[in-house]
Amino acid sequence: MKRIALLGATGSIGRQALEIVDAHPELELVAAASGSQPIDGLAPLTQVGGDLTDLLERAEPDCVLNAVVGFAGVGATLWALERGIDLALANKESLVAAGDLALAAHARGGGRLLPVDSEHSALFQCLEGRSADHVESLVLTASGGPFRGRRRDELVDVTPAEALAHPTWNMGPKITIDSATLANKGLELVEAHFLFGVPYERIEIVIHPTSTVHSLVRLRDGAALAHLGYPDMRVPISFALTYPERAVTPVPPLDLAGGLTLEFGAPDLETFPLLRLAREAGERGGTYPCVFNAANEVAVAAFLDGRLPFLEIAAVVEEALAAADGAPARDLDELVEADRRARETADGRIPVA
Ligand SMILES: NC(=O)c1ccc[n+]([C@@H]2O[C@H](COP(=O)([O-])OP(=O)(O)OC[C@H]3O[C@@H](n4cnc5c(N)ncnc54)[C@H](OP(=O)(O)O)[C@@H]3O)[C@@H](O)[C@H]2O)c1
Repeated sequence: MKRIALLGATGSIGRQALEIVDAHPELELVAAASGSQPIDGLAPLTQVGGDLTDLLERAEPDCVLNAVVGFAGVGATLWALERGIDLALANKESLVAAGDLALAAHARGGGRLLPVDSEHSALFQCLEGRSADHVESLVLTASGGPFRGRRRDELVDVTPAEALAHPTWNMGPKITIDSATLANKGLELVEAHFLFGVPYERIEIVIHPTSTVHSLVRLRDGAALAHLGYPDMRVPISFALTYPERAVTPVPPLDLAGGLTLEFGAPDLETFPLLRLAREAGERGGTYPCVFNAANEVAVAAFLDGRLPFLEIAAVVEEALAAADGAPARDLDELVEADRRARETADGRIPVA
């Protein structure tokens, strides 16, 4: 039996994780948490809001699936990594904001860090058992979101409803907006850097509209290994929860004989500057990625509330990065302070409703 603690049980990832847990008697849900929705009876231990590490202390899980959205997931990520408890990580924001602290905690704890993000799950699988010397670079694929192919002047008036209409993935609202701005791919770039220890100049982003190829690894002999499948998060969730067993899922195999066309192209960094800003923040290091994430969270919430135009999301993030000193955080308290200051700067830039 594997004892699972599911954080973010009411979300898009959380609900799909419950389906996987229900289908596997060897997975036991011992604890579940949400931010505000009631979840009484979902698991022997439940918690709504509050400090997630209190719940984890009581639950004593073998594996934490962190599917909380945003910086709120940082404490739980560090808790699991520090104790060497397997961490199935959907909450990419925690690794972006706390990358250095997370790596140090992971090194001390010695547990497994299993990515749930489909691109990173793909990279993990393509890299597994491979010598780092053989790897030339990583290639993260991006669908391009609902506004792929548009120019900046065509994005001036886009509404939250338009931005929420993602072409390939059905996800929570924050990550869906991040996909429309390409901030999501920026977060994933930083996530990949910390997960796989590959420098930024060797992580490439390509647009691939159907999300069939989840990511690729280029090897030094010219070969490229790709991971393909239908865009269905149950596959990477199941992979992480049942690792290393690789359990069966209800997801059908790819229909190749029916005709499958794979299209790739370069991202438009002019129209979608958040991808460039994330790369710069990652390369500068320290708390710059934390600032990028915090300002982006504030700006996305304001866009969803109708208080900020779509194109201003990037402007808010750029200004928060310019105002920050980026000094590395030596502990969680310093990180929380860097996050708070970035939110304050971003908030100050957003018109009051
Ligand atoms: N959805 C996807 O396909 C997908 C793919 C790859 C990666 N991810 C990543 O997975 C994470 C979750 O995404 P999602 O799409 O599932 O988001 P979502 O549908 O918005 O769900 C977010 C979950 O987090 C909970 N939550 C929010 N604040 C919390 C807090 N302070 N304490 C405890 N729980 C809290 C929410 O609870 P309430 O319902 O009570 O608010 C909800 O259960 C994100 O980091 C996202 O980037 C998602």
